[in-house]
Amino acid sequence: MPWVDELADTRALKRCIRDLVALTMLPAIWRDYNPQQIVDSIAAALLSMLNADVVHVSVPSLYGEPAAKATRTSSALAGASTLLIERAIVGAAQARREQVVLIESPGPPGPLRVTAVPIGLSREALIVVGATHAEFPSEIHRLLLGIAANDTTIALQRWQATAEQQRLLILIDRSSEFVGFSSLEGKPHYINSAGRELLGLSDSASAGCYDIFDFFAPEERDRAHRELMPLVMKRGRWLGEVNLRNFTTGEIIPFLVDWFRIDDPRCGRPMNMATVSRDLRDRKTHEADLRRLNESLERRVVERTSELADALDRLTVEATERSRADSRARELQLELFHASRLSAAGHMAGALAHELNQPLTAVVNSVNAARRMMANGGHQRLDTVRDVLDEAVEQTLRAGEIIRRLRDFVSRGETEMRIENLPALISEASGLVCAGAGAGGLKVRLQFDAGAETVLGNRIQLQQVMLNLMRNAQEAMALGERNELDVTTARLDEDSIEVTVMDCGVGLPEDVVEHLFEPFHTTKRNGMGLGLSICRSIVDVHGGKMRYRPNEGGGAVFSFTLPAMSTE
Ligand SMILES: Nc1ncnc2c1ncn2[C@@H]1O[C@H](COP(=O)(O)OP(=O)(O)OP(=O)(O)O)[C@@H](O)[C@H]1O
Ligand SMILES: [Mg+2]
Repeated sequence: MPWVDELADTRALKRCIRDLVALTMLPAIWRDYNPQQIVDSIAAALLSMLNADVVHVSVPSLYGEPAAKATRTSSALAGASTLLIERAIVGAAQARREQVVLIESPGPPGPLRVTAVPIGLSREALIVVGATHAEFPSEIHRLLLGIAANDTTIALQRWQATAEQQRLLILIDRSSEFVGFSSLEGKPHYINSAGRELLGLSDSASAGCYDIFDFFAPEERDRAHRELMPLVMKRGRWLGEVNLRNFTTGEIIPFLVDWFRIDDPRCGRPMNMATVSRDLRDRKTHEADLRRLNESLERRVVERTSELADALDRLTVEATERSRADSRARELQLELFHASRLSAAGHMAGALAHELNQPLTAVVNSVNAARRMMANGGHQRLDTVRDVLDEAVEQTLRAGEIIRRLRDFVSRGETEMRIENLPALISEASGLVCAGAGAGGLKVRLQFDAGAETVLGNRIQLQQVMLNLMRNAQEAMALGERNELDVTTARLDEDSIEVTVMDCGVGLPEDVVEHLFEPFHTTKRNGMGLGLSICRSIVDVHGGKMRYRPNEGGGAVFSFTLPAMSTE
């Protein structure tokens, strides 16, 4: 030890012992010091012990603590700028060997010898000492400097560890979980405030009166002691639900307990037992609420389902009744329709008798005439007899036709309705009329509205309407010069379609218009006056309306409406 040799002189020895003792005392003095105070203190001590002219101590910011720095100078350097001195000696120290630097100052005699020792915290933490006297740095100086650096390192590390511990303690204490640890025998050492509150302990000290098994609900204690703790000791951990007890209120509180062993990281030997436990009361309440809610929901679903089933039953019954009522209504409608036709037929009976009387009288006359001729024994020519009989045949056929048309009119039959394409239906009817029109021809202009293509109706009946109207028109025009017929369809509104047949024939005189649509009103020699009344009956059955108006340019316009169907 080279420094021991330097201590041959008693004064030097005494001084060294004094300095060593002073340095050993420092850590105790620094117990409550912060880094800056420690740094200040060591700088002052070294300036005096080493008889130095400048001591600079710097500790950078570590783990979020502020940086600490102190520079102490002797009276010899009092006039020099501290900043310049700092720069000079730190620059020298960074060279990592002892240096001699010159500091511009009015005071110090001669150059400054600078030496530095690291503080074992980081590369930037160091103590730099400069002195102008020739003995600096001696071995004893280096020894004292080394001890000072060690003291500073330990003191700063202790300060940091304490700060760190405080932070962790605050963190644990603020936690809402019950955190605590105990000895391996179960004597509590620490319980955080959440834990104390849950257990009903007034302060940390009161926990010391119990052991951890007292914290369990009475019925759980035995299990905790015999079963759970051995598990913790053996496996290192037990996690599960268990009931604890509040000392103040006596309340039994369900907890999720994480109970574990803490081993010494250096040797692996078990040191403590600890717990992080969660109060399950809220969760249990929520679970119970949820269960209740689920049950009531299920009950309500069952109730609602049965209500719906009842409603469905009622609806089914109603639907059956309605469909029964509907079919009854349909039957009644048909009966009514039939009855109204019958009553119309009743009204017609008189006119019919008159109508039939005419051809039948003609037949009787013709047949009598023929018989007379034949009785006269051949005076008459045979072909005259044939003419007379032909006339009788014609009148008989006419009577038959009157009866057939009347039977059609009054015959009852369900009108089968289908979705029909109106333009197709009209074109077909028009084709039939044109074919029957012969060589004279008939010019029919068809004009269809694209928005009026689909109707719900009976095709045969609707075609019968078209045939009657077009034949009437054709017959009215046969007497005039023009032979043109316009048939158009149009969408009136959302619900109805209109079909119009417009001719440029002779038109209708007032007296005919008065009885229009009534049966057996005709102005034609071979007409039966049934066409328009049949038309109106059919249109009525289809829920439409039949109308007549004169054509302004001469002629007649017959139109009827039908309920519209959407193309879909
Ligand atoms: N387009 C028309 N132009 C002029 N007169 C018409 C027209 N349509 C009908 N009429 C008049 O109305 C009368 C009644 O017509 P309706 O079709 O009911 O019977 P009809 O044509 O006389 O005989 P049928 O029973 O053979 O049809 C006709 O006789 C005719 O005088
Ligand atoms: Mg007619």
